[in-house]
Amino acid sequence: MSALAGRRIVLGVTGGIAAYKAVEVCRRLVDAGAHVIPVLSSGAQRFVGETTFSTLASEPVVRSLWDIGVDEPVPGRHTSPIPHTRLGQTADLILVCPATARLIGTYAAGISSDLLTATLIATTAPVVICPAMHTEMWDHPAVQENLATLQRRGVRVVPPSEGRLAGGDHGRGRLAEPSTILDVVHGVLTPPSLAGVRVLVTAGGTREPIDPVRFIGNRSSGKQGHALADEAAARGADVHLVTTVDRAAAAGVRCTRVDTAQEMHDVVLGELGATDVVVMAAAVADFRPVGVADDKIKKDAGVPTVRLEPTPDILAAIGQRRRGDQVVVGFAAETSSVREHARSKLERKGADLIVANDVAAPSVGFEHDTNQVVVLVRDPAAETGVREVEVPLQSKRAVAAAVLDVVETLRNDRRVPPTR
Ligand code: CTP
Repeated sequence: MSALAGRRIVLGVTGGIAAYKAVEVCRRLVDAGAHVIPVLSSGAQRFVGETTFSTLASEPVVRSLWDIGVDEPVPGRHTSPIPHTRLGQTADLILVCPATARLIGTYAAGISSDLLTATLIATTAPVVICPAMHTEMWDHPAVQENLATLQRRGVRVVPPSEGRLAGGDHGRGRLAEPSTILDVVHGVLTPPSLAGVRVLVTAGGTREPIDPVRFIGNRSSGKQGHALADEAAARGADVHLVTTVDRAAAAGVRCTRVDTAQEMHDVVLGELGATDVVVMAAAVADFRPVGVADDKIKKDAGVPTVRLEPTPDILAAIGQRRRGDQVVVGFAAETSSVREHARSKLERKGADLIVANDVAAPSVGFEHDTNQVVVLVRDPAAETGVREVEVPLQSKRAVAAAVLDVVETLRNDRRVPPTR
């Protein structure tokens, strides 16, 4: 299950132009199943409308120590005469996004000047702050010292990136991307259940060149594989992601970029001995052209014939060379008879589990942000020798969490000792 499901997150928004990006962060937290309570500073209210957050979040916006509906309770609104302690006590995490230099200074000094700073000081929940400001402010020793103080006290800081800033300036101080912020939140809320476990994940569709400009490819976006790598990293695993797509991975994930099935095969098989869990989420081409033309094939030479040959079946090769203590996960993207095909792949390829999906179904599989799968697990105790775990339609990150839950159960059942 996603670490965010049902968790109470107080989303503090302070006054900077990046406050508009907190709207996207709010939406993504809610999509991941979190219960989000937005707290807007008075500055934030100048940049983003309260209605926007109240519509997207799980509860209406809370703005000040005094605006809680004690006299006239609003349905769904957090009603308490002492909101700063209630919010802080009931939160699983407090995320400040964006955090201005003023918020950072006030918090580091322990001053409770409004509802958000009072809540920060009154909580024992983990706190994540995402600074965003102009480069000159970011570089100022006062800001850096305040951040160092907060980090010493256990506050997680998501550093700003470099890029375009308000007013057309350029430099460090731009709010981190929502996906990076979500990764950090996931990391903080996820128990390190895969600490020390070496996980190898493949992602994306391979490209088999025909000539220097053309290739045989497929529609895989790599999103599910990357979500698996990010989720494994959040659980403390030592993750190596072998991917065909230029998509950022979570901090700490080691990435190797490949194009062809052969390149992927060589990297994966080369690492197999030093791996505990292999997840073959990549859509590997089954065929490649025999030989690659040195020059671009020209039209006036007539319609070419492209002869094909099979690529190496990476999963099958893993199945033959694997150790018994390793967990091997395959995928099956099908358009019909999903279970039958997946079951045959489980047997043929020597995997422990196959994650099968019907890519012809709406909102499922290639290119989508959501997925719905059935996980077929080899299980001698089951009547048919195979156990099924249904994973309903949800974000690819949540599907990744469900798949890794199955992997962990399998490791626990086998009592695989920690690797390091
Ligand atoms: N796979 C692989 N090497 C290949 C082809 C597939 O490692 N050359 C892996 C995929 O990464 C996936 C699993 O095998 O984990 C099933 O892939 P899929 O394309 O669904 O099945 P195929 O074996 O290619 O069979 P078919 O195309 O007939 O469905």
